Amino acid sequence: MKTLTVIAGFVALAAAPAMAQSPQVAQGKKLFQQKCAVCHVAPDAATQAARVGPSLKGVIGRKAGTSPTFPRYSAAMKKHGAVWTEANLDKYLENPRAVVKGTTMAFVGLKQPAERAAVIAYLKSAK
Ligand code: HEC
Repeated sequence: MKTLTVIAGFVALAAAPAMAQSPQVAQGKKLFQQKCAVCHVAPDAATQAARVGPSLKGVIGRKAGTSPTFPRYSAAMKKHGAVWTEANLDKYLENPRAVVKGTTMAFVGLKQPAERAAVIAYLKSAK
């Protein structure tokens, strides 16, 4: 009986990463590497350091402009002050400079809703 419980535990552990890595998350990770990684460290990387842009680990649910390891937020981002909900992130990633006027994030935006959803799913998976 005890052996069975242990085995069940192992099965659950082994299944967890497979579940987290859904096709959408995998697509988001790929997009992140292509479009965001020049400025942001991957949120699932072992060490999180600010680059040109802040670390995005745990960004969902965080107030804009408050990553403690990023000293270079624009006045616009600090003033923005909204919490990064999935909905807010979706709008921001579509057109960063329209949502946070004066942001120093030089990125045109992800125009495809499915691409934004994938990147957001990836950010969420890397909490
Ligand atoms: C050219 C560099 C660059 C690229 C490319 C870029 N970012 Fe940024 N990002 C920045 C900078 C710089 C900031 C800080 C902006 C500010 O303070 O106005 C930022 C801020 C952010 C923030 C707000 C973080 C916070 O702590 O409030 C999010 C979310 C974000 N970026 C997501 C992304 C995602 C997702 C991508 C890819 C789709 C991306 N960025 C691509 C440079 C970049």
